[in-house]
Amino acid sequence: MTRPVVIAIDGPAGTGKSTVARGLATALQARYLDTGAMYRIVTLSALRQGVDLDDPTAIAAAVQNTDMAVGHDPAEDRSFLAGEDVSAEIRGDAVTKAVSAVSAVPEVRARLVALQRNLADGAGPVVVEGRDIGTVVLPDADVKIFLTASAEERARRRNDQNVASGLRDDFDAVLADVRRRDHLDSTRAVSPLRAADDALVVDTSDMTQDQVIGHLTALVEQKAGAIR
Ligand code: DC
Repeated sequence: MTRPVVIAIDGPAGTGKSTVARGLATALQARYLDTGAMYRIVTLSALRQGVDLDDPTAIAAAVQNTDMAVGHDPAEDRSFLAGEDVSAEIRGDAVTKAVSAVSAVPEVRARLVALQRNLADGAGPVVVEGRDIGTVVLPDADVKIFLTASAEERARRRNDQNVASGLRDDFDAVLADVRRRDHLDSTRAVSPLRAADDALVVDTSDMTQDQVIGHLTALVEQKAGAIR
């Protein structure tokens, strides 16, 4: 009797997590669920409604009925808010700055965690990427991976991306933002960012993304063989 393999990938921003999760899903012919995109969609919804980001009650009320959808094809990561394709807008500065405040609200997390469990529970293997997948969303996942990299290395990667896309070269500002987000994400009361006790911790500071994907694909295939 075979059952679908569930793979949880967690870790902070800038570890190459999204690229690695997508690459792994492609290699395994698995579905891919980007839970960060879900937090970004509800954040965009809150911003469009003009909600005060210092008011968790208002945020909870505003996002309660958000009509959202995310694709699960690793080759095409699409996000929708009320039927509108917001894939590009949710990656913009406004959403990136506001998303930590929105994702710290317990009612927001409760709603999205329930949705994520439903979405993960489909046919075939699935790679689920986020911050709390191995600890909270899918504690019974077959393989749990926690990607890390030093704050400096993550800031360097993000600054390089900014420069490549025509934004200002400002390593110090990016490093300060990486540290600010790390602090917010790891100290929030609900589902702080941490590795599950049974997660495999992989430091990607000195690895290329292809090396990480190759390493994880071999690991998952070995594990999947064992549970088939
Ligand atoms: O991975 P990302 O940068 O797209 O995530 C956006 C934000 O959402 C980030 O600040 C952390 C938060 N997040 C979370 O709290 N829990 C998740 N499972 C995924 C993302």
